[in-house]
Amino acid sequence: MPEEVWEVKLGFMVTFVSDEIIDLDPYLRAIKAQYEVLPVLLCLPPNTCYPWHTDETRRTALNMQLNAHDQSCCVFTKERSDEEFFQIAELKYQPDTYYVFNTQEEHMVMNFGETRYMFSFTLKGIRDVPFRQVAASLIDIQARVLQADTADTSA
Ligand SMILES: [Fe+2]
Repeated sequence: MPEEVWEVKLGFMVTFVSDEIIDLDPYLRAIKAQYEVLPVLLCLPPNTCYPWHTDETRRTALNMQLNAHDQSCCVFTKERSDEEFFQIAELKYQPDTYYVFNTQEEHMVMNFGETRYMFSFTLKGIRDVPFRQVAASLIDIQARVLQADTADTSA
């Protein structure tokens, strides 16, 4: 991918994903029909980390990690401290799997390997809708799409 497509936004290298690509996936198409979305690819260079934060400009994203599964990690905490140890939980991304990501929980990313690429389908305009409600609706949409797909192939 040419270097110049990447922009640094809020300290993250990001590039936009076109509608032509999004429309290839029936699930993303169905989400797009219901929500305002911003599809991006995020990139984290080798041997870097993105420190503890909550996202400033978005609350809910549907994420799929595209590579570097064994060489990077994303962790969450509810009790961050600068002075003592605290509990963390890892979000272990599996290949080819979407995760509904609550960007308002404290999280950080470390990358020990090659450049890490994350597809991130940001849902916009839903600041006042509780995260769990949005997550449930994304699961419903997925079930509907899978059902339609099964009906198509069994017909
Ligand atoms: Fe983040």
